[in-house]
Amino acid sequence: MQKVQQISQILTPDAQGIAQAAALLQHGQLVAIPTETVYGLAADARNEVAVRAIFAAKGRPAHNPLIVHVPSLSLAQELAELPDTALRLADIFWPGPLTLVVPLRLGHGLAPEVTAGLKTVALRLPAHPAARALLEKFHGPIAAPSANPSGRISPTTPAHVIKGLGSRIAAVLDGGACSVGIESTILGFEDDRPVLLRAGGIPSDALEEVLGTDLGLSSTGTITAPGQLMSHYAPRAHVRLDVTKPRSEEIWIGFGPECAGADFSLSPTGDLDEAAMRLFAVLHDADQTGRDISIAPIPQHGLGLAINDRLQRAAAPRDS
Ligand code: TXA
Ligand code: MG
Repeated sequence: MQKVQQISQILTPDAQGIAQAAALLQHGQLVAIPTETVYGLAADARNEVAVRAIFAAKGRPAHNPLIVHVPSLSLAQELAELPDTALRLADIFWPGPLTLVVPLRLGHGLAPEVTAGLKTVALRLPAHPAARALLEKFHGPIAAPSANPSGRISPTTPAHVIKGLGSRIAAVLDGGACSVGIESTILGFEDDRPVLLRAGGIPSDALEEVLGTDLGLSSTGTITAPGQLMSHYAPRAHVRLDVTKPRSEEIWIGFGPECAGADFSLSPTGDLDEAAMRLFAVLHDADQTGRDISIAPIPQHGLGLAINDRLQRAAAPRDS
């Protein structure tokens, strides 16, 4: 694939913009697309060269597989074998921020790089109207990891995408700011038993209520979703968590009315859905200041679990 040198084109999500985005994907180009969780860096999941270009643009290690976005449950079933529980969950939570890791079917046609050689594939049917329109127009599987350089803060606006990857992609489809703001919940299956691989946009308790049981944790104890590496979502600055009294040199990100004096707030009223929606944008903004970052405690329920998971990785020691 030819390397795109100029700053990427911004497409509006009307019929013309959707058609242009679909045509770029058909030609093996990379297009950043909105989903309700975060922006994804999209390519045709059947095109090996295009899929390799995703890994190159992000600087993503080849052993970290990608999520495949589908326009319909029927395409999901052509690509993979969904256990009964996966089907039941897809029926309830798709379209939406739930990714299901399920066994590939023979003859699936996906580029092997998408699944990093695994026998399973991560499938998602997103709810964002522009993503759905594009998937329907493209009429095929779209591979898309979050549209950020590997290990950095995820993007929830076109501006975040352009800041991180602008010169490396053909276009950004502008779907505004993401409404959920945190990546999808990822479930795997051990036989038919659902296992939480990544906390995300659908809180575990909502899934457990439907399932009637607690979600399992992976029995292997190994990293099954490589995005679970400890340092991830990392700003350039040093990050300190559970801070109620910031140091004078730090930027303080608050949560709830008790943090009225904070420099930024994830949610002034203490609303966890709002905090998830604002999390990455606030981290991007706080990082722009060049100062160290301290963050108020976030309650560990509802979307708080996914928020705290991201914050712990943002604060973790880094290799580089
Ligand atoms: O909300 C989201 O999920 C966003 C939007 C763009 O869809 N995507 C996203 O992709 O967060 P990414 O690549 O940043 O995270 C995908 C995660 C990675 O941790 C990857 O290791 C895991 O999904 N994954 C993909 N395929 C897998 C598989 N077959 N088995 C286990 N984990 C898998
Ligand atoms: Mg990511």
